[in-house]
Amino acid sequence: MPITTEQSSHAGSPPALHQPIHAALQQHYETLRDVHLRELFAADPARFEHFSLQVGDIFLDYSKNRITDTTLQLLMQLAETADVAGWRERMFQGDTINNTEHRAVLHTALRNRSNTPVLVDGENVMPAVNAVIAQMSAFAERVRSGTWTGYTGKPIVDVVNVGIGGSDLGPHMVYQALKAYRHPRLNMHYVSNVDGAHIVEKLESLDPETTLFIVASKTFTTQETMTNAHHARHWFLQHAADDAHIAKHFVAVSTNREAVMGFGIDPENMFGFWDWVGGRYSLWSAIGLSVVLAVGAENFIALLDGAHAMDQHFRDAPLECNMPVILALLGVWYSNYFGAESQVILPYDHYLRSLPLYLQQADMESNGKSVDRDGNAVDYATGPIIWGTSGINGQHAFYQLIHQGTRLIPADFIISVTPPTDLHAQHDILMANFLAQTEALMRGRTLQETRDGGVTPPYAPKVFAGNHPSNALLLTALTPHTLGMLIALYEHKIFVQGIVWNLNSYDQWGVELGKQLAKCIQPELNAAEPVTTHDASTNGLINRYRQQRAQ
Ligand code: F6P
Repeated sequence: MPITTEQSSHAGSPPALHQPIHAALQQHYETLRDVHLRELFAADPARFEHFSLQVGDIFLDYSKNRITDTTLQLLMQLAETADVAGWRERMFQGDTINNTEHRAVLHTALRNRSNTPVLVDGENVMPAVNAVIAQMSAFAERVRSGTWTGYTGKPIVDVVNVGIGGSDLGPHMVYQALKAYRHPRLNMHYVSNVDGAHIVEKLESLDPETTLFIVASKTFTTQETMTNAHHARHWFLQHAADDAHIAKHFVAVSTNREAVMGFGIDPENMFGFWDWVGGRYSLWSAIGLSVVLAVGAENFIALLDGAHAMDQHFRDAPLECNMPVILALLGVWYSNYFGAESQVILPYDHYLRSLPLYLQQADMESNGKSVDRDGNAVDYATGPIIWGTSGINGQHAFYQLIHQGTRLIPADFIISVTPPTDLHAQHDILMANFLAQTEALMRGRTLQETRDGGVTPPYAPKVFAGNHPSNALLLTALTPHTLGMLIALYEHKIFVQGIVWNLNSYDQWGVELGKQLAKCIQPELNAAEPVTTHDASTNGLINRYRQQRAQ
């Protein structure tokens, strides 16, 4: 029995992919689908200059995409049809574009370093944003200088961020990325998994006298985070014995003041943010506290500055030379015309190794939707599967499938020009591999080249079709500023795609169902009688677990 959605006919204005521009793109796709990138390069010696763009410290080469000028013109028309520029303005000015949660979407206000007023319900949010940055900076200064001490008077050495999803992935990724900027005494740790192994293993090596916990949760109700936070408090009190000491060792980052107080954290030690900051867009808010502690307020502000620079570029640059818009439309081109199902993110940078994980949430939780913002079921592909890992490691793991598998997998290659260490020769090896892979994916190897190249038969498995698209992103260096730009680039790419697909990219109702069911099932695991209320599989698994656990 198929599960049907409430709506059948289209309410609201038709999405761009239902408009004549879609047919024009489909027709254009038919003319380009069998054209090889080799031919496109041969036809235009200036293709690299033509299809590349520098914005601040980020250079984008998008010439190895299966596009021509006409493709881009048509894609730009698609963006215009979807009113990307209008929606972009609505987002920046604080309109309620998250229509199912009735919220503005203003992570850009958190890094609005120009400090121009941003109004939510008629009130300028910038004074409150700046006040939290000042509060975080002052607190970080005390911890970093050692004037904030634990209950026995020792300076803090370890900081544990207890959070999950957007309250973990963003700060964790940035902490890793900015290793070069870290305070020498302070170590950050990130605990997210409710599997007790995560927190138990972490606490084994920590000293309660010198450990600070940041309980990071927008809602302060997330089961995983609250369970771990309670365990951390229990562990701490086993050593410190007195509730009064909690104030020196637990701080909270949340929008929920009552719940923070209910947990026993002094509201003085709470760093607030607002419901117009989505969880997966929150690293710029107080959720970034662990980053501020690790790299200092100055570097955190440089991160915000970088994101703001990308915000300004996104807001002001014409669509055809707008980096997030170009990346977004290329993604749409592959998803909706070539039928690509995924997008791989390949940082050739040890310190950016968690970027794919971060972007998985940012992109898939935002655009993993099959109902549009008007409540209609969509009949076109939306958000792709985002995956990836450190590129050089991926080469020895899954690149085979990208090169010779049956699927088209657009790839983003990311590298810094400046090496993170003085091992310059090693950086050249990394760069050579980065370049070799994008070239090999693009060119492939013909049968003739295989024969001529001294390869031994059989030839067929050694021939590569090529024609695999990729973007190359060259960062001048991995600094807080460039990192801020890079993250904001992807955020805006996701935004633009959401607009083209007519989605609300800022809710996540799908995640809620699993949370509700888990809450129902949890007491059943300890019920007196066998469980019969679910389907046979779920009943069977619950009862088997109960039986085996009892043995
Ligand atoms: O996974 C669902 C989600 O709501 C994410 O959007 C969010 O980042 C995460 O849970 C954590 O939520 P919170 O910060 O409220 O604990």
